Amino acid sequence: MSQAVAEKSATLANLLAAYEGESNARAKYDFFAAKADAEGWLGAAGLFRAAVRAEQIHAANHARVIKQLGGEARCEIYAVEVKSTLANLKAALAGEQYEVDTMYPGFIAEASGSDVALAKRTFTWAMEAEKTHAQLFQEAIDIVELRIKESWVGLPCAFYICAACGQARCPVCNLAYDKFEVIR
Ligand SMILES: [Fe+2]
Ligand SMILES: [Fe+2]
Repeated sequence: MSQAVAEKSATLANLLAAYEGESNARAKYDFFAAKADAEGWLGAAGLFRAAVRAEQIHAANHARVIKQLGGEARCEIYAVEVKSTLANLKAALAGEQYEVDTMYPGFIAEASGSDVALAKRTFTWAMEAEKTHAQLFQEAIDIVELRIKESWVGLPCAFYICAACGQARCPVCNLAYDKFEVIR
């Protein structure tokens, strides 16, 4: 196998792994949103729904590059274990941290060659958005642990999602949300 072909197939495998990660995160957060609503953590439910939309955008962006590299975007969706909202937030944070600290930096480092610029971009966009997710999940954990219902986590809260990269911003924490989709 030539060097270029080897690089391309490693990148394709990583894209498929990222596609699977994003698709499963999306499925998981759907259940976590319903649980947060049921427990009266309405802002946390909004945050999970905003993350659902973001992960959907990430998966779609990865899928486009997978197609461009001659692959097919498909993956298995695993059963979701739904616990308390606090436990769900902690599980979500762990997933985001893995993507930010390990998965995406590794995939970005392994992507090389002129034809994988698109792969690097889709990995980078997703990674940057996951940093915001991790930050928001951590803030939500701190508030739920203190059981402060009079907060953005307990009250309905709007999130602004960039339709291109899935970057999520809460109006409480960040102001840059010009042309974003609003998710509650
Ligand atoms: Fe994502
Ligand atoms: Fe995320």
